[in-house]
Amino acid sequence: MNSRLYLDHNATTPPSAEVVQAVTRALTVDFGNPSSQHWAGQDATRTVDNARTNLANLLDCRADELTFTSGATEANNMAIFGVVEKFLAQGRTLAQMHIVTSAIEHKSVLKPCAELEAKGLRVTYVPAGWDGRVNPRQIEASIEADTILVSVMLANNDTGVIQPLEEIVQYSHGKGVLVHSDATQAVGKIPVFPRTLGLDLMSLSAHKFYGPKGSGALWMRNGQKLPAFIHGGKQELSLRAGTENTPGIAGQGAAAKSARSNLPHYAQHCSAGRDALQTGLLGLFPDMRIYGELAPRVPNTLCVGFPGVDGMTLMLNLDLEGIAVSVGSACGAGDHQPSHVLRGMGCTEQEALSTVRFSLGLATSAEQIERTLTVMSRIVPRLRSTIPSVGVH
Ligand SMILES: Cc1ncc(COP(=O)(O)O)c(C=O)c1O
Repeated sequence: MNSRLYLDHNATTPPSAEVVQAVTRALTVDFGNPSSQHWAGQDATRTVDNARTNLANLLDCRADELTFTSGATEANNMAIFGVVEKFLAQGRTLAQMHIVTSAIEHKSVLKPCAELEAKGLRVTYVPAGWDGRVNPRQIEASIEADTILVSVMLANNDTGVIQPLEEIVQYSHGKGVLVHSDATQAVGKIPVFPRTLGLDLMSLSAHKFYGPKGSGALWMRNGQKLPAFIHGGKQELSLRAGTENTPGIAGQGAAAKSARSNLPHYAQHCSAGRDALQTGLLGLFPDMRIYGELAPRVPNTLCVGFPGVDGMTLMLNLDLEGIAVSVGSACGAGDHQPSHVLRGMGCTEQEALSTVRFSLGLATSAEQIERTLTVMSRIVPRLRSTIPSVGVH
């Protein structure tokens, strides 16, 4: 049996010991319902408050600007549908609204936009350039008189490319338009300060930075009140009703606390590993294509294409060796469609299908990178000689 090696941290991360401890405590000791007035409720409320403070410290924002959600999918839905609801309440119809987003967003942004489009709202999907970056001037040029929202992610899940958000915010605000960003793949990897970026709304997910799954948050600039997203009780300032997921929230708070102190080490450790992997692979396969190489990237992500190799077959062969990597985003796994992110950057279908994503984490060691290189040096030439040619360009 091959020893297992996990290089798919953009899909999810293994919860840290501190996170497991915080979740366990919220399930056992602080098990109360935060809405209860008695001691058990007070303990649970304290757990939620502490977590919110820890997350606020990581993001350098106010705790009352954060709403806990079931993850980034919900936070993205909450932001997009919430802004639309707000304008509906002001008397605008869907036909009088327009959203600008990018073609490389996560499905949890693209699908809500498509849903609204089907109901009459107009959406412009700005493509990314070959470097993986969305051009802020193109965002600006796409803004129309009735644009209500610009939504562009901070770091892309497939390529790790960091988008020029400050300029996007500047141009959008210049035209009086709110800006939302899906920062799911950036939080815990690079410093992310929504207020400094100038954003109005920002989504994140704990399981991408060593927290538990099913726990995320939406940051809303102070005063940026949205209508209720889930109706019921008064939890989360009545925006998101339902008894709080205290174990998930406690875990998210612990993850945020660790991420804050780990950031410099994370950047140094992951970029050293990623660069060693990139250099090693280039030495083995000089025709390898590196997506986002010319743009700033989060330190842990390497998205590469091998002409003549099917990415899915490569991923499955690496899995047989115990090495977990990804093709495109995990949410698209199983359907073997070319990554819409790479297509949104102008790749041909064949190029997109010959790609795999390595994403490193805190536990990734130099030995693991060496082993990956050794395995790749065996598998890729074998696939090139046995698999009918795909992705040749
Ligand atoms: C960029 C991005 N946005 C949103 C999500 C969805 O996050 P969650 O799993 O918390 O719903 C992901 C997860 O893969 C992601 O990478």
